[in-house]
Amino acid sequence: MQLEIALLGGDGIGPEVLEQSVKCLKAVEETFNHDFSFKEANLGAIAISNTGKPLPEETLRICKKADAVLCGAIGEIEYDNNPSAIIRPEQGLFQLRRELELYACIRPVKVFPSITRNAILNNKAIIGTDLVIYRELTGGIYFGKKEISDDGRTASDLCKYTENEISRIAHLAFKAAKKRKRKVTLVDKANVLATSRLWRKVVTEIAKSYSDVQLNCMYIDNATVQMMKNPAQFDIILTDNMFGDILSDQGSIIIGSVGLLPSASVGKNNAMFEPYHGSYPQAKGKNIANPVASILSAAMLLSHFDLIEESNSVVSAVRKSFQKKIVTTDIMGSSKYGTDYVGNFIANNIVDSDNSGNINDENIGLGKSTII
Ligand code: IPM
Ligand code: MN
Repeated sequence: MQLEIALLGGDGIGPEVLEQSVKCLKAVEETFNHDFSFKEANLGAIAISNTGKPLPEETLRICKKADAVLCGAIGEIEYDNNPSAIIRPEQGLFQLRRELELYACIRPVKVFPSITRNAILNNKAIIGTDLVIYRELTGGIYFGKKEISDDGRTASDLCKYTENEISRIAHLAFKAAKKRKRKVTLVDKANVLATSRLWRKVVTEIAKSYSDVQLNCMYIDNATVQMMKNPAQFDIILTDNMFGDILSDQGSIIIGSVGLLPSASVGKNNAMFEPYHGSYPQAKGKNIANPVASILSAAMLLSHFDLIEESNSVVSAVRKSFQKKIVTTDIMGSSKYGTDYVGNFIANNIVDSDNSGNINDENIGLGKSTII
């Protein structure tokens, strides 16, 4: 298959982890005889210093033209510590999500048994966790009107949703659930928010056309507790932009490290793949960042294009790195391996399962059952 992939390294550790996932994609290209081409572009703080804009026109053009976008991470300390900065790296990401109409962010939280020791929760509570968060990505409070009074002492953020914005992601969530454990949990705050009540109304209506899928509704405050107490109860979690952002980071406590969590953001015509983690500027250039979230994001990219065997080969190589304890220090404090070493190990272990007999027996088709 021919694929053109836009590469947005971004800031902090973004370019370092992205480099590792590109190595893996190149290994897949070679092993399975595909034709991938890569085009680099700037996004975030680096783009602001180069062009004055967090999303330069050139970047947007490259991303729109590409089949898929693979993103590192964005954000820089100077902006985090300066709430009055008018131009901010995150704006580039939001604008890109909006321009590419990436309305559904799919964030799997699946336990890797070989490294559960690292999870903060005890093993009993997390064993069997295999949930996917469907986070609405282009609406809600992230994109509503933002105001600050002239004296700078009062501010507001509008949270707005339309029926269409809710229903398009709800359909994706129900379709995914049909191929999984047939359970959708809508997470909202319908006892307080008008937007949440609209979500409940629209999603409850849509659920009627998926009679084999069970719908539960849960308040966000309870959901945060349930996710810690018994994460294995969830299959698909469907939620809005802000609640989805918060709940997905909570997934890192279940899994053991935020450095393990990939995501796919999809729309009708475009798709972007990126770790959930931030740019961790303190670790930039130190060769300590965990590349696995970025590598698993590349695996999701492959399964998005139905390259299931290829995607499985990447996930198998990641599992092998866990089994052999070729991991970064966030997974095992005593580890002596860095970003590069882990990335090379995983890329070098990508093999064609047909040729090697290395069958993936754990049904780890990341994305296979989550992306439609
Ligand atoms: C994420 C990130 C972003 C978000 C930040 C970097 C603005 O936390 O993708 O989860 O809040 O959407
Ligand atoms: Mn987040």
